[in-house]
Amino acid sequence: TRVVTTYRLAEMKARGEKISMLTAYDYSMARIVESAGVDVILVGDSAANVMAGHETTLPITLDQMIYHARSVTRAVKRALVVVDMPFGTYQGNSKEALSSAIRIMKETEADAIKLEGGEEVLESVGRILSAGIPVMGHLGLTPQSIHKYGTYTVRAKEEAEAQKLLRDAHLLEEAGCFGIVLEKIPAALGARVAGELRIPLIGIGAGNSVDGQVLVIHDMLGITTEFSPRFLRRYADLHTQMMAGIQNYVADVKSGAFPNEQEQY
Ligand code: KIV
Ligand code: NA
Repeated sequence: TRVVTTYRLAEMKARGEKISMLTAYDYSMARIVESAGVDVILVGDSAANVMAGHETTLPITLDQMIYHARSVTRAVKRALVVVDMPFGTYQGNSKEALSSAIRIMKETEADAIKLEGGEEVLESVGRILSAGIPVMGHLGLTPQSIHKYGTYTVRAKEEAEAQKLLRDAHLLEEAGCFGIVLEKIPAALGARVAGELRIPLIGIGAGNSVDGQVLVIHDMLGITTEFSPRFLRRYADLHTQMMAGIQNYVADVKSGAFPNEQEQY
């Protein structure tokens, strides 16, 4: 097990220490994220978007998630590593959910899995938890069900949807989940859920009163440029820096300025 455990995250919430979480999908990036002191590393199925170029998260497979997760866990000793269960590996069939979760735990050295949904996936959550595998929930905007909504707009603005989200959050806590990601919901609702539950709520576009924050690393470092929701703060402009570096390289190769005397044998 790693230094940061699910138990440690509960303690952090209890004493009011905010939890930092970021995604990583490969060894080199995970090393940097780990060294920078992030508490939780998520091998997100957003890999389907930022690593593979798909428009949604639906196409990524269990084998592909396992490949990403293995690359990440080799780099991490301190942070808790959570792996997303991909679309189609846990919905509807709790036996399949358990065998998918077992494959992730056996083949990747991850610490926990995450899956999307509340009441609909409760049987799967229970079965995975009874095998001793820590489960993180994910409510609000759940990208794997994008085709049900057709848009990536803010969720649970209406009272009925907010009530369902609150009920789902309580169900996941009672089932034994160690935490829940809340994506793109009103800050007031995020505050209410975080106030009612004992387990940590990690927000992405869920305001500042939840127990921690998560962002997709390619977005927060400015490697991607086309995705600009209000909740995204860009902490670097790597797109510009990488472009400049690569353009300089191309120019130097063309002009013959690279390699110079010292750069050859
Ligand atoms: O896949 C992902 O990156 C996620 C985060 C946005 C929470 O689920
Ligand atoms: Na995800």
